[in-house]
Amino acid sequence: MSDTALRLSAIVKTFPGVVALNDMNFELRQGEIHAICGENGAGKSTLMKVVTGVHSPDQGTITLFDREEKIANPVDAFSKGIAIIYQETSLFEEMTVLENLFLGREIVKKIGPLPVLDYKAMALRMESILHSLHISIPMDEKIKNLGMAQKQMVEIAKALTFRSRILILDEPTASLTQEEVDALFAIIRGLRDNGVSIVYISHRLEEIFILCDRVTVIRDGRYISTKEVAKTNKDQLVADMVGRSMDNYYPKTAVEIGGELLSARELGDRELLHDISFHVRRGEILGFAGLAGSGRTELAMALSGFTPPERGEIFLDGKAVRFRNYREAMEQGLVYVTEDRGKYGVIVNMSVKDNIVMPQLDKNSRFGVINKQKEYSVAERIRESIGIKAPDTDFLVMNLSGGNQQKVSVGKALALNPKLLILDEPTRGVDVNSKAEIHRIISQMAASGLTILMISSELPELIGMCDRIYVMKDGTIAGCFDRDKFSQEEILHIALASEGGAEAAL
Ligand SMILES: Nc1ncnc2c1ncn2[C@@H]1O[C@H](COP(=O)(O)OP(=O)(O)OP(=O)(O)O)[C@@H](O)[C@H]1O
Ligand SMILES: [Mg+2]
Repeated sequence: MSDTALRLSAIVKTFPGVVALNDMNFELRQGEIHAICGENGAGKSTLMKVVTGVHSPDQGTITLFDREEKIANPVDAFSKGIAIIYQETSLFEEMTVLENLFLGREIVKKIGPLPVLDYKAMALRMESILHSLHISIPMDEKIKNLGMAQKQMVEIAKALTFRSRILILDEPTASLTQEEVDALFAIIRGLRDNGVSIVYISHRLEEIFILCDRVTVIRDGRYISTKEVAKTNKDQLVADMVGRSMDNYYPKTAVEIGGELLSARELGDRELLHDISFHVRRGEILGFAGLAGSGRTELAMALSGFTPPERGEIFLDGKAVRFRNYREAMEQGLVYVTEDRGKYGVIVNMSVKDNIVMPQLDKNSRFGVINKQKEYSVAERIRESIGIKAPDTDFLVMNLSGGNQQKVSVGKALALNPKLLILDEPTRGVDVNSKAEIHRIISQMAASGLTILMISSELPELIGMCDRIYVMKDGTIAGCFDRDKFSQEEILHIALASEGGAEAAL
């Protein structure tokens, strides 16, 4: 028997108008962690959907442990020992952890003639599995009350109760904090050491170098290369991914900074935010660094009218303003692009065009009549300028790859020609090249006088793009750096600093 767990040979998969996979090959060895990388829309998720029976390939063969197999559907894939964890979890929100874990294969006992669910047996069985993985999740909590990281742990636990031999993780860390990522990596390594073969998809190249044994690059639905991680480097990977070498990840142009556009004085809310004062000037790209939970998103929502602040004042162009909702903010040129594109950013069963023009219906209509041609030209301009990979703007957003959905969300805001744009994690899930494209656009916008607030958990991105960076911590601003004083260490130091006193003693 060879040591190959999974072999995909000459796989072809087409969708109407799109060749997603073209003569694709991939080999996963037993007990390795194998990364797949490639640009947005390269075909990574589609390839894994072929393996898990979501899509059946038009051509090509799948070999599992030296046997050629047909995978009929996801349940069939599960029963053959293949589990997948998607970025968006597939758990039932209203059910408990335990119910989710045993859904469809509950342990049943008899009370008299009646079969009833044996919760105790299920809980015991689960606890022993979780214990061996050093995971702790409350069994009778409803899924909707868990954080993203815990949900992923439930997904992993679910995969393991199926005794999976192959585990696929598709961008699992996109919304995790560093600590959660570390915990996840420990679990993945533990699984590998127990002989599970793992496919790991991520746009964070650093993660690949920390975690993985080999890496396969795909581009435009085709196989490009497979390398030992120890024998390659980031530049080589990027060159394989984009088909040329890339040198400028942060194309920031020097911009003449104008007068003050917006300032905030002692903003606060009932829960987290307090004593927030800052200002931003025309043409400036202003960064907000900080840990998850430090209040950056809450501040953005407060500024842009989603959750108006309870205390303090906001001045726009020197005048005090009070936005009661996001529409009022938008009318004055202040637009927020959310980090949670699934929830607020895009509507997936609408087309690219309809998403982009949705917030500006009144701009493209006269006397209630919509000017379709104008809508298409706006959408087309945005599609081209940020390189949304779709055959045309009538393409449904749900059929776009994850990163391209993110671009639609940014494009929708750009189409409004705002004065002040608040971008919350604008490049999450976006590949290196498109990231540089988005950075280039941000830079151009700033050069044309637009002001940008940028929230990001990637310090290199903030350091590369911003004129100034505020550091948030525990709901307030804990530090400020000018571009010539940027230092990753010092920013982190402030973001991580403990409170001192009572909390430090805990
Ligand atoms: N159901 C579908 N219908 C039509 N086209 C699709 C469908 N699913 C995927 N595609 C297309 O197939 C191509 C590959 O998409 P896929 O989701 O596999 O990319 P990806 O490599 O996972 O990208 P990302 O990094 O952005 O997640 C894209 O052009 C996408 O628009
Ligand atoms: Mg994908």
